Amino acid sequence: MTIILNGKELALKITDDIKISTAEYSDKPKLAVISAGENPASLIYIKNKQKKASELGFESFVINLPNNVSEDNLLENIFILNEDKNINAILVQLPLPEHINKQRVLDAIEPVKDVDGFTSFNFGRLALGYKPYAYPCTPKGILRLLTEYNINLEGKNVTVIGRSNIVGKPLSLMLQMKNATVTLAHSKTQNLKEHCLNSDIIISAAGVENLIRADFVRDNTVLVDVAINRTSSGLKGDVDFINVSPKCSYITPVPGGVGPMTIAMLMENTLELFKLQKSLFL
Ligand code: GUN
Repeated sequence: MTIILNGKELALKITDDIKISTAEYSDKPKLAVISAGENPASLIYIKNKQKKASELGFESFVINLPNNVSEDNLLENIFILNEDKNINAILVQLPLPEHINKQRVLDAIEPVKDVDGFTSFNFGRLALGYKPYAYPCTPKGILRLLTEYNINLEGKNVTVIGRSNIVGKPLSLMLQMKNATVTLAHSKTQNLKEHCLNSDIIISAAGVENLIRADFVRDNTVLVDVAINRTSSGLKGDVDFINVSPKCSYITPVPGGVGPMTIAMLMENTLELFKLQKSLFL
């Protein structure tokens, strides 16, 4: 029997709890988003983040900068947000325009306001096995979803496909900390099929439609599909869901799997930073 990992349902449960916790405070957590350029997918993500933040009683706003914004202008905006005591969480939406030094911009964020955990400070702590102020949202959401369904990671062979700084790289570190045996596969990996067939758990964040087919998956595999590919027939993950899902013990749908969990974790991180800053500054 195949069980659907229902991220939408779990995300709602989590955000309902966040809403209740938030209502206990007289002031509100405040999230600032910086966006540069007009990436269509980013614009949708940002709208969804803002909608959820407002539902939970958070304050949020977006600073929209043009595609030709200078790096100095971006940095200046971050410095202002860092100084503003009313702002608890700063998110720089990725990707940034090509001419911008992405890590230089991310590293300008005050680590205690780094809601994505993408600064060298927080990512470095994660890599060294220490707690960052915030864990990257998508990996955190995936681990929460697996925990909710009591899927044990200890000693398991896990293949993560995609080595991005947003998903694959931090996720591989977090899985290792849970004592999984991690293979981090990527576009140059040879014999991806063999790696997948040797895996108890496959987590695909490649952005390639139908990358994971039925012959890549052994019986009772746990499959997490992180990708959102915009195709002529709507949103699709990396997995050929119809043919692969019957072989899986657990599988995420797209949409309704990892996506809602990412937004829920962003809200959780915002609330945690808000609480942390109260304890540090008051
Ligand atoms: N672009 C795609 N996913 C993310 C994310 O989790 N955080 C940020 N900042 N940008 C993204």
